Amino acid sequence: MDWGMKNRLARIIKPDTGRGVMLAVDHGYFLGPTERLEVPRKTIHPLLPYADSLMLTRGVLRTSVDANFPIPIVLRVSGGSSIIGKDLSNEKITTSIKEAIRLNVTALALSVFVGAQYEHESLVSLAKLVDEGEEYGIPVLAVTAVGKELEKRDARYLSLACRIAAEFGAHLVKTYFCENFEKVVNSCPVPVIIAGGPKLANEIDALQLTYDALQAGAVGVDMGRNIWQSDYPVSMIKSVRAIVHENASVKEAHELFNKLKNTEKSTKTATSV
Ligand code: R5P
Repeated sequence: MDWGMKNRLARIIKPDTGRGVMLAVDHGYFLGPTERLEVPRKTIHPLLPYADSLMLTRGVLRTSVDANFPIPIVLRVSGGSSIIGKDLSNEKITTSIKEAIRLNVTALALSVFVGAQYEHESLVSLAKLVDEGEEYGIPVLAVTAVGKELEKRDARYLSLACRIAAEFGAHLVKTYFCENFEKVVNSCPVPVIIAGGPKLANEIDALQLTYDALQAGAVGVDMGRNIWQSDYPVSMIKSVRAIVHENASVKEAHELFNKLKNTEKSTKTATSV
């Protein structure tokens, strides 16, 4: 692998643990002002020190992230449909490679919609993006199974989607956790990270999901709502981090969360008076 490509990947998946915590805040590209991400800067800023990388669109990057903060950026470069539109799978590449280089990004992210109406277009876009990324040493993260495709959340479908993304040249694949997740990881020749999905009932459920995914071979998380929709987002990201980088058990991470949340609670109270 080219030095630049290897170096960029090492900024996302940390070589000392072989794992990474990516914070996902790109939801607005099709969901608009998602709950608790209404003012992106307010949500993102306190979490930045605890994320290894940040996944977002160029609009939120430019307006809501301090350029002086040294966090690797995973730039979402696909889009073109909204949650109220006809078909979420109707995406194209929306940001050029030149723009991505200008923004000094570490990786490019694009969704593929295997089994959907625009499957072909999204896969061809992935191939094109990989070609462009290879030219400049910028890795591509393929995001599998969003929107309606998420209903098919089983190892058979997710293995198919992840494997196809890897065959098209994606350097990293993001998918959802499911039963028999080992099957998804083992049949995908590039590293797999998991999205958190919609906010789960309790923080411990998201910690369990993180733990189970890593046990099954995932190299990290690209997590959004289960972090910043928590009442204690900083405590949550720190606890997810403990599982990813320190091999904490679910019990240990949850104890850490409960301990940290008291401090986060008192800081919030102090700043609101
Ligand atoms: C979905 O298309 C977005 O790319 C999100 O980044 C992804 O779903 C991860 O966020 P969450 O953990 O909230 O599912």
